[in-house]
Amino acid sequence: MRLVTFSLVCGMFFTLSHASESIPYKNPSLPVKVRVADLLSRMTLNEKLLQLSQLTLSDNNVNNISANGKDGIPLGIGSLIYFSSDPEARNKVQKENMLNTRLGIPVLFGFDVIHGYNSIYPIPLAQSCSWNPELATKLSRIAAYEAYNTGINWTFSPMIDVSRDPRWGRVAECYGEDPYLNGIFGVAAVKGYQGQDLLDKYSIAACLKHYVGYGASEGGRDYRYTEVSEQTLWSTYLPPYKACVEQGACTVMSAFNDISGVPATCNEYTLNHILRDRWKFDGFVVSDWNAIEQLVYQGVAENDAEAGLKAFKAGVDMDMVDMIYFDNFNKLLNEGKLDISLIDKSVERILSLKFRLGLFENPYTVPEKDTKIEKSIRKNCEQMAEESFVLLKNDKTLPIDNKVKSLAVIGPMAKDKENLLGSWSANGKPENAESIFEGLSSEFGKRIKLNYALGSNFEETNQEMIKEAIDVVSKSDAVILCLGEKRTWSGENASRSTISLPTAQEDLMSALYKEGKPIVLILSSGRPIELSRLEPMANSIIEIWQPGLYGAIPLAGILSGRINPSGKLTMTFPLISGQIPVYYNMRQSARPYKKMGDYLDITVNPLYEFGHGLSYTEYEYSEISVSKTKISRNEEIKAEITVTNIGSRSGKETVLWFISDPACTISRPIKELKFFEKKEIQPGESKVYTFIINPERDLSYVDSDGNPLLEKGLYYLRVKDKCIKIEVID
Ligand code: GLC
Repeated sequence: MRLVTFSLVCGMFFTLSHASESIPYKNPSLPVKVRVADLLSRMTLNEKLLQLSQLTLSDNNVNNISANGKDGIPLGIGSLIYFSSDPEARNKVQKENMLNTRLGIPVLFGFDVIHGYNSIYPIPLAQSCSWNPELATKLSRIAAYEAYNTGINWTFSPMIDVSRDPRWGRVAECYGEDPYLNGIFGVAAVKGYQGQDLLDKYSIAACLKHYVGYGASEGGRDYRYTEVSEQTLWSTYLPPYKACVEQGACTVMSAFNDISGVPATCNEYTLNHILRDRWKFDGFVVSDWNAIEQLVYQGVAENDAEAGLKAFKAGVDMDMVDMIYFDNFNKLLNEGKLDISLIDKSVERILSLKFRLGLFENPYTVPEKDTKIEKSIRKNCEQMAEESFVLLKNDKTLPIDNKVKSLAVIGPMAKDKENLLGSWSANGKPENAESIFEGLSSEFGKRIKLNYALGSNFEETNQEMIKEAIDVVSKSDAVILCLGEKRTWSGENASRSTISLPTAQEDLMSALYKEGKPIVLILSSGRPIELSRLEPMANSIIEIWQPGLYGAIPLAGILSGRINPSGKLTMTFPLISGQIPVYYNMRQSARPYKKMGDYLDITVNPLYEFGHGLSYTEYEYSEISVSKTKISRNEEIKAEITVTNIGSRSGKETVLWFISDPACTISRPIKELKFFEKKEIQPGESKVYTFIINPERDLSYVDSDGNPLLEKGLYYLRVKDKCIKIEVID
């Protein structure tokens, strides 16, 4: 009997497995293209339109843009934005889709994993100030590991929108004001998320956003018009996307903004022409939240059907939470306004990613702790925090002198935890964050007595609180004043008309300043802050951005001198908000002499420039040397500069290489970042930094349709105040 049963079961198993292998799309040994074609051929129109649609599962708890989870999610939906952190809830939905639909197509679960999932590390703007993209890759891999174990297969990250207006809340999410740097860090993030192969354990699909030009939002106001010429589009906003598409990013998210009259959500030129025809991008494009429906508000569509048709024909494959494609395309097909071949093309792109991620074979999440990764988490988060902090000012008050026996730790950020996490903090728990005060306690222990007073809330001046703070300061040798922004003051839908801190915080500093004790200002923010009135009252200033869970210990290490700060700004600090926009790679004034063109009331120079960041040691830069000064366009030359640590302690120094083109067919920025290197240098040691210049890559500019042009003539190579001429002679 047993033999009969056994052969029956084997027979059945053979039949089933043979049956599934006889169905090409269920056969993992076949190429993705073959599986996609087979599956597509079996799909009904309804099933296809569901694949083009994304809804939300669970409630959206993201600050500033909360929304409720959609009830009645149709079986067969293509993707869900997953706001829960329970893999079993996700598996339950997946099982319903795999087992109770005709073809068993897995759902793609996406989420905003922007700077960590459980283990929140510094915001992207901070990461870029570390000038350590390799570390950013490690952290993105950790984020992918944690997200993957929650059931997320797709993150809406990296955000690579070049931003020059710090009134815009989303500057927190990008990698600063430079196109090249946004590309370098965007590529670093894609590498971390997608790994060597999408089939690798913990790999999740990346999503480049917000395509394109969103950072140019007029007045820093979110969701607005952007005046972007095609020249600026190609020279400023597109380079990071090109670099990340070349890196193999799987998806792109179209942006909310209106690009000089044509919203990004229905912009044929950027989506079909550039992304598809020029860059041969073969992934898929998802709209931003409700962005298709918003085309009606932006004045380019009379109704949802027209909005959907425009967005789809322009190149948006998947509709985020509108269901406009699903609700309208059947009718549009019948009216002959839409061709099924376009729908098939988009469905193919979405199915391809699901096959490449292995979702058909492994649709369910089986959480798995990886001890090696787990052990690396805190160390990497702390290192990124440490390297992202920028010492903006220091009159030698730091590191804290051994003679200091007591510190007054004051301000709304002193014991705060929640706001250290910043915007888009996914499943990060504020209670798991270490406050600045806790970090100081751990670092200084008994050596230094810490006296605490709140001093002021974030926004309300309170004379009683100020009095308490003054009393604490009077009993202390120096002041650690912790000021900054709430995490809801940056991120999406968080533009501010001024980048000043609230007067309550400025009042507190003014009151403490009168006590005459040294003040170290610790600033936690999601954007550059207007410091014109605070800077003169501070002996030292450290910008710590929003460092996530583990910034307090590294900060205390910098205050004690155990750590030498190495961060450098990747976004300019204006002197006052009225200077905005002010950024390093502006065009030259027509009258750069005798202060012509300055404001009548203030200087045009910012308080702290792009690249600014102090150290506890000093570096001496040699002159720049080049292997040749006259070159032809297709030969590379080597540029070198030697940096010597003339101080008494080791440090990590980043050398930024810029080029200038003083006479070109078009006016170019005063200087353009083209390369950088970060190295640790011991006291007394010298290190050579090398930049291999490829003229086509590093000296050319792009014309208004993105064609790189290299002109003969003079160029300047610049590092700090060092400069050398090179000439392209043919
Ligand atoms: C939001 C944001 C976008 C995010 C998406 C999903 O509105 O603009 O960055 O990825 O919707 O949450």
